[in-house]
Amino acid sequence: MVAEGSARPASGWDDIATAAVDAVVAANRLRQPRDLAAGSVRTALSQTGQPVVSFASNDYLGLTQHPAVRAAARAAIDDYGTGAGSARLIVGSRPVHSRLEERIASWRGTEAAVLFTTGYAANLGVITTMGRWASVICSDELNHASIIDGCRLARAPTQVFGHCDPAAVDDVLARAGGAGMVVSDSVFSMDGDLAPIGDLSEVCAARGALLVLDDAHLVLDHPESLHPHCRVLRVGTLSKAVGALGGFVTGPRAFMDLLVNAARSYIFTTATAPASAAAAAAAIDVIDSAEGAALKKRLRAHIDRIRPGHPSPIIPIVVGDEDRALAASGALQQQGILVPAIRPPTVPVGTSRLRVTVSAAHSDADIDRLLGALRHSGIDV
Ligand SMILES: Cc1ncc(COP(=O)(O)O)c(C=O)c1O
Repeated sequence: MVAEGSARPASGWDDIATAAVDAVVAANRLRQPRDLAAGSVRTALSQTGQPVVSFASNDYLGLTQHPAVRAAARAAIDDYGTGAGSARLIVGSRPVHSRLEERIASWRGTEAAVLFTTGYAANLGVITTMGRWASVICSDELNHASIIDGCRLARAPTQVFGHCDPAAVDDVLARAGGAGMVVSDSVFSMDGDLAPIGDLSEVCAARGALLVLDDAHLVLDHPESLHPHCRVLRVGTLSKAVGALGGFVTGPRAFMDLLVNAARSYIFTTATAPASAAAAAAAIDVIDSAEGAALKKRLRAHIDRIRPGHPSPIIPIVVGDEDRALAASGALQQQGILVPAIRPPTVPVGTSRLRVTVSAAHSDADIDRLLGALRHSGIDV
């Protein structure tokens, strides 16, 4: 045993960690969290106090700051305390969790919903569970990391298909036979483009495959509808447009019962904090109301001012080179506009970009400032 205060024994692991970090630094890819003084879009960098307008959050409707959502979280703390204390299937479940699942199901127009602690955990849970019976999992090449990790953990062969290519999916399903499964983001997180969910659902219906769609960034309606005979499970997050924290899966009751009894990322983790669940339910009430429709309209108008007709609030400005992306982000920051540079490994080499995300919480003047700063820096949208 090492006496308290004595020097630690030399460890090969220290060298491994240091060398690994050094390699990240040498590649100019070291990242560290930056604290913002407040969660609203008009905020400040805590370290320097510089006021900034953030175009970097996924709080697309500004609901993290909504009075009714904040009040619901506070009331849930008064009713239930700060943590759930245990997994849902042990003693972690509260009426606020079950009510939220019912509210999500009615909002999404499905039979049932299951709550997970994050969208990440929801993808892991649904893909690993359904993957037990899948002859093959087809996954879009630009799917989110949580889908990729779900496929890696699933005990089924995974075939990555070309971005938004339903014909390639059909080929793989035809060759694999049996019960196939297809997984796709419905809105891609780094490009803001939409998956061809109508065609994907048609292929799945024809081949008897299960379609899993990740709607994490689906805040504005997708223009395509699904084939009526397609079996589909939809994953969502409570952490972006819903302004809280958590994830969910919706679909037929039998699938939800299966997830509750088989998904390890549901079973072996503590239930969502009651405040997050209550905030999410209140936020869904807002989204599902005339106020929510007005917020979406406002978001749509902001997007159209930046890139007319773009289908989502994620607006990528691809600059290619990593250093150019960092320089562009730095130039905007000097003008008080916060837009992150997204670089490999998050996006493919040569496609580094600015990722502008727009919120209904932005004012028209905020959008003016963004457009002015981009123009001033010589950045074409
Ligand atoms: C497409 C997509 N799916 C899932 C997630 C995970 O959601 P959460 O942040 O709730 O874990 C994210 C983002 O984080 C995402 O962009």
